[in-house]
Amino acid sequence: MSLRNRDLISILDLSRNEIEELFRKADQMNKFLQEKKTLNTLSGKIISLVFLEPSTRTMYSFQSATYRLGGKTLVFASKTTTSLAKGENIADTIRMMSAYSDLIVIRSPYDGTALYASMISSVPVINAGDGKHEHPTQALIDLYTIYKLKGRIDGLTIGVLGDLKYARTIASLLYGLSLFSPRKVYLISPGNLTLRESVRAKIDDLGLEYEEVRDIRQVIGELDILYVTRIQRERYPDPEEYERVKNAFKITEKLLENAKPGLKILHPLPKLDEIDKSIDNTDYAAYFYQASLGIPLRMALLASILG
Ligand code: NCD
Repeated sequence: MSLRNRDLISILDLSRNEIEELFRKADQMNKFLQEKKTLNTLSGKIISLVFLEPSTRTMYSFQSATYRLGGKTLVFASKTTTSLAKGENIADTIRMMSAYSDLIVIRSPYDGTALYASMISSVPVINAGDGKHEHPTQALIDLYTIYKLKGRIDGLTIGVLGDLKYARTIASLLYGLSLFSPRKVYLISPGNLTLRESVRAKIDDLGLEYEEVRDIRQVIGELDILYVTRIQRERYPDPEEYERVKNAFKITEKLLENAKPGLKILHPLPKLDEIDKSIDNTDYAAYFYQASLGIPLRMALLASILG
């Protein structure tokens, strides 16, 4: 089925075939970028970027992807300079932005905002992260990065480490992985950062094969891919709880002495202290490459929905 005019709220809105089609399109976009070709796929189109929560990569890569395709953006990124500061509600904001543009990309601190926006908007809506719920375009980039690095996703052993409780990137990535056939997925986190029950129930339903471990050292020698996230400080209702978990894990060169050759480390960024900086310049580090793939992947997505 075509992605034309469709919303993207959850990674599960897409089939494996559609995801693989996006990978192929992203490869083409990459080629165009390298050849410095000008594209007019979005010529005459306006994309609204409604960001009610901080963002660097997601917002600017959507903006850059739009420009690269010849489109224009309206950026709505501050609660203080827009009518939200006067008490306007999100529903009215969405109604207006959908009248002013051809597609809305929205990020919000609240679970469910993107779905709600899609029910109000007359133009397609892309979820750029809603609270702790989902971040489907990041998951597409993550899956695309694995595919580029390893040539496949099926058959790989993948560890996800970090704040499994609150990271929306983790939820979307696990749902996305369930559409493929990894050999094994290890969920690695100390006891107080394990998956929320709702996410666990969903990956059980989806039939994802996984095993939970507390300490990365138990499995580091088996992993083809290690996906790390930061502790999601802003989602902790109790600052003391954050203080207790904030230094719960760290990837160091010493730990990687036991890694499987060819291990690649991914991270959606921003990273804080969870990966030692000395690793940035090693062959393990794939996170900057991963961030760079945000442009062709988001170009492929925008072109598929609006092109
Ligand atoms: C992530 C997010 O916003 O969920 N950032 C991103 O989009 N690359 C990850 C994070 O903030 O930890």
